[in-house]
Amino acid sequence: MAIREIVPHTDNFIRKKSKPVTKFDESLWELLDDMHETLDVAKGSGLSAVQVGVLKRVFIIDINEMRIEFVNPTIIKTSGVQYKKEGCLSVKLPFDYVKRPKTVTVAAYDRYGNKFTLTCEDWTAVCICHENDHLDGILYIDKICTPPKGLAED
Ligand code: NI
Repeated sequence: MAIREIVPHTDNFIRKKSKPVTKFDESLWELLDDMHETLDVAKGSGLSAVQVGVLKRVFIIDINEMRIEFVNPTIIKTSGVQYKKEGCLSVKLPFDYVKRPKTVTVAAYDRYGNKFTLTCEDWTAVCICHENDHLDGILYIDKICTPPKGLAED
């Protein structure tokens, strides 16, 4: 395992589109293990492979110290809206509001190639949307908005 360097948003690499994983092999497991170790040190809510310099459609999220790995994720259903302040390990700028669905259903594969479907809400839904955006080179700073009156959450 190794801690990998996090690509800053000022590096154009972060804007590249990641490619689907085709082999669920040792190199994927090593990448995921390294991402966990990197996230342990960086202390964020999630990390995508592009942020450690690998253009694979892979991300992990950390919800109350529980980790979930997503390989080749697809958001298949969303509902509702929420406005929460987001930050990013690649972006050294203040946290700011982004409009996200309140609930998301995501289909993905685990590290062994088993497909699963998960429905999440609130902060977990925010993290999934944020990390999923990374796979297409999209950052939260592209989506900063002013929440409608009364809808801003911390
Ligand atoms: Ni991020």
